[in-house]
Amino acid sequence: MSFEVLNLKDCIGSEIRTEISALLTPGAAAEVRRLVQDRGVLVFKELNISDEDQVKLAQMMGSLREEGEKGIFKLTFDKRQKDRTDYMKGTFLWHMDGTHDDVPVFASMLSGRKLSQVGGQTEFASTYAAYEQLPQQMKDRIDGLKVVHRVATSMRRAGILTPENEDHWRGMPDKTHNLVWTHTSGRKSLVIGCHAHAVAGMDEAEGDSLLQELLEWTTQPRFVYRHEWSVGDMLIWDNTGVLHRAEPYPADSDRLMHRTTLLGEEAFA
Ligand SMILES: [Fe+2]
Repeated sequence: MSFEVLNLKDCIGSEIRTEISALLTPGAAAEVRRLVQDRGVLVFKELNISDEDQVKLAQMMGSLREEGEKGIFKLTFDKRQKDRTDYMKGTFLWHMDGTHDDVPVFASMLSGRKLSQVGGQTEFASTYAAYEQLPQQMKDRIDGLKVVHRVATSMRRAGILTPENEDHWRGMPDKTHNLVWTHTSGRKSLVIGCHAHAVAGMDEAEGDSLLQELLEWTTQPRFVYRHEWSVGDMLIWDNTGVLHRAEPYPADSDRLMHRTTLLGEEAFA
């Protein structure tokens, strides 16, 4: 093994200590891929990786999503960097990426380039561990349930659904997924988050309360890793087995994260 692994919490998160040169080998990339699936989120403190090397590592770990410039998507409120930033407040709520797709993205890499003076920490909650540790009674109750996911619902909850953008977000079709995702590996995770609009076929109030209860269960401290950023940190997380959110930070902050995304390989099931 070309690097040192330190677990950050029992259920989620490991810090990887390594040099960039040791990381950019097929063997190390395969090990990072295995670890990210096992631990949910990996932390490389002050790695200071270049955009080029970040994309190179992603390509060695899987298939790159075409986004941004040459695989680097800039996450920021800074209007000089991006034309549209209104959706950014949606990242303050617990979510997984890609519930409006049949095959959600596999993993994301995020490098901290500029930080906010206030807020901006990123939190991750393991939906694998949260499912595994549910009381059997709850596992039985949710077995076979399906959940309708709606992008407009997450925008409404984030307080950014406006008369101007409402038609755009409401135009995105709903997607229905199993509440419990049984992965091809046999592991099971919960598919929930701010985009979970309703439990299919269930009374609205009962469904809302069940989804809220599961979200509170999943995001309790024992399943959560919270990252306090330093410039140059890089994180990689398994989007199929964690929820994530950023702690709120001011819209005039110049916080800038460089993201690279790996395409999904497994459909919701
Ligand atoms: Fe996200």
